[in-house]
Amino acid sequence: MNRVFIKTYGCQMNERDSEAVAALLRARGYAIVDDEAAADVVLLNTCSVRDQAEQKAIGKAGYLKRRRRTNPRFVLGVMGCMAQNRGRDLLDQLPDLDLLVGTQKFHLVPDHLDRIIESLAAQGPRPATIVDLAAEEGSQNTIRDHLPQEKRVSAFVSIMQGCNMSCTFCIVPKTRGEERSRPIEAIVEEVEGLVAGGVREVTLLGQIVTSYGRGTIPDRAGKSPFVQLLERLEQIPGLARIRFTSPHPRGFKRDLVEAYRDLSKLCEYIHLPLQSGSDRMLRAMNRPYNVTLYRRIVDDLRAVHPEMYFSTDIIVGFPGETDDDFTATREVFREVGYDMAYIFKYSIRTGTPAATLPDQVPQEVKEARNQELLALLEAQSLRRNQALVGTVQEILVEGPGRRPERFTGRNRGNRVVHFPGSDRLIGRLVPVRIERATVSSLYGLPEVEAIHEIAGGPASAEPARHSA
Ligand code: SAH
Ligand code: F3S
Repeated sequence: MNRVFIKTYGCQMNERDSEAVAALLRARGYAIVDDEAAADVVLLNTCSVRDQAEQKAIGKAGYLKRRRRTNPRFVLGVMGCMAQNRGRDLLDQLPDLDLLVGTQKFHLVPDHLDRIIESLAAQGPRPATIVDLAAEEGSQNTIRDHLPQEKRVSAFVSIMQGCNMSCTFCIVPKTRGEERSRPIEAIVEEVEGLVAGGVREVTLLGQIVTSYGRGTIPDRAGKSPFVQLLERLEQIPGLARIRFTSPHPRGFKRDLVEAYRDLSKLCEYIHLPLQSGSDRMLRAMNRPYNVTLYRRIVDDLRAVHPEMYFSTDIIVGFPGETDDDFTATREVFREVGYDMAYIFKYSIRTGTPAATLPDQVPQEVKEARNQELLALLEAQSLRRNQALVGTVQEILVEGPGRRPERFTGRNRGNRVVHFPGSDRLIGRLVPVRIERATVSSLYGLPEVEAIHEIAGGPASAEPARHSA
């Protein structure tokens, strides 16, 4: 039996890539298992954004290779960003890998595994590591297969790959290559297929989704290719919610602000990376916008949606960041009032321009700044959640929670909500009255009449807030 376990590190893009690999493997006759110990093949889909993520995967691979002692046919592969970033050099540290696959070659994993397993079955000498790291034209079109999963309500959809920016701290342009977009039609078809299988919410993924289709798809009626894509998805019956990650402040134009006003399925939640609230730092990071522009986008979005939820990425301790720079970041952080944020301590990435800058910030300063923003985030997040107590929120029900009879879902702002429910509610939009709030969760009771209506009737194609 060829049982494969895939462990994923890092971002949603990686999760999506892993799913696509799993779907291809299953189509080839492999079994995808959740139990690492029961697998004959373990694939690590890796992340390179920070050193810590790389070290974790290297440690894991070192630990896993010992399984060969008892099972000589055990297969170990590393795929994704770290494979791309470190290349063959990784084999100095991990000589026992059977497979090293880059970010544009995920679709070839089944072929490679077939070959490895065949030669191991022939019981000859162990074949040399298969290394497949080249760039491949059209690879953006290969991440399209999904695992048919019962009762899956929400799905990631990769709309583009790569990044053409050159933020001085970032390894992603190296690991993910040049920006390439999939055609609108192919994405629409994929989403229609997902909806036919029960999906009600999609999250569109790209390094900079606001650059989607630029250079290949013309603007139409003042609308960027990305907004054209959103408008097409809005039309898909049965799809209830659209999210995406991440836009870039530079490409955030009026047409996208208006999409938030005009498209009812586009959730009023946005992840808009700030990185720093100091213009001086933004310049050093080679981020082509300033805090004034960023604030304007936030104001414009709040003007069309006063309830808008904001999330962001922040780097603390970028080389040369002074107390004043950090204070500026903290002020913007407070002013925007982020509901959610990923706060990163700057991590040196060899080969990026910032790696060799003087004035690297001491680790304990990074740590202190990190803690300060985390505390602020916690307070802001709690305040937002508490403000929702007493309101009725539209919840897309995802599935059972950890406690019996408890179900979980999310409101349009992506806040997790727990409530009593039943299997029949999965995939439905249910109004829930919020009774209690913590930093990370909301607790509530479904509006009973509405449940009967929704759960009893046929699946409604429109969000409940329109039919209520
Ligand atoms: N284009 C993507 C960014 C991918 S990297 C997006 O906008 O979503 C995800 C985040 O990791 C970045 O936004 C940044 O905040 C953080 N990051 C990237 N390189 C880093 C580094 N060297 N050290 C610390 N954080 C980093
Ligand atoms: Fe990285 Fe900047 Fe692109 S953060 S992914 S180089 S926009």
